[in-house]
Amino acid sequence: MLSDVSFTIMPGEVVALIGPSGAGKTTLFRCLARLAEADDGEIHLLGRSIRLMRSGQLRTARRDIGLVFQQHNLIRRRSALHNVLAGRLGRVPLWRAMARRFKGDDRQRAYAALDRVDLLDFADRRADRLSGGQQQRVAIARVLAQESRVILADEPVASLDPAAAVSVLSLLRDIAHDRGITVLCSLHQIDLVPGFADRVVVLRAGRLVIDDAIKNFRSLPAGGDIYADQGEQ
Ligand SMILES: Nc1ncnc2c1ncn2[C@@H]1O[C@H](COP(=O)(O)OP(=O)(O)OP(=O)(O)O)[C@@H](O)[C@H]1O
Ligand SMILES: [Mg+2]
Repeated sequence: MLSDVSFTIMPGEVVALIGPSGAGKTTLFRCLARLAEADDGEIHLLGRSIRLMRSGQLRTARRDIGLVFQQHNLIRRRSALHNVLAGRLGRVPLWRAMARRFKGDDRQRAYAALDRVDLLDFADRRADRLSGGQQQRVAIARVLAQESRVILADEPVASLDPAAAVSVLSLLRDIAHDRGITVLCSLHQIDLVPGFADRVVVLRAGRLVIDDAIKNFRSLPAGGDIYADQGEQ
């Protein structure tokens, strides 16, 4: 249950969403992508109200939202390239998507996206034969191929070792800043937040308790102590 959660993210801004387990981070992502219905309140994406959209409008709006989750991100048995091409599905006519007939420029975009995440050499490798960090980079390449303007990333580095986590978060941050893509990303590794985000939003027990620029993060009242009082679980 979320309440009193109100914030705005500007294009190209990277916001870290943190808070203890059960705070409502995943619930918030689900509401933003309208995978769950909020009972009340307003959600605007690129100036339009998500909550009022009918299914056709929602389908169009979802092209602009790229999702990167902790797991079950990729089609395991398909190649990295195929997974990235899947990002084009919302952008090509349905019959071509169904027939998996992607045009040359779709493929070119997919290769360019794989290149951006440094995985060009792995284009033909099956997704389940890639490391966790590589898989998350493929998921980011898919979002790039999708040309989404917003990336919602729910714990994208939860299962990665520290080096891979830093590499995935740096990639997200650089892409956001280079291309003006808005990023909202939840994570539990507080120590990674200052090097990654422009701003931090803290949820606790379904409420927004902190929304502040990253430069103030260390001196926030809760500071690194955000997990100390877990509130209700
Ligand atoms: N499908 C659901 N139906 C009802 N309640 C749910 C559902 N999913 C989650 N909740 C509840 O909503 C609250 C927020 O859960 P949520 O999964 O959003 O937390 P979270 O911040 O993502 O936690 P974590 O860090 O563990 O991923 C919890 O109390 C949880 O039990
Ligand atoms: Mg969660």
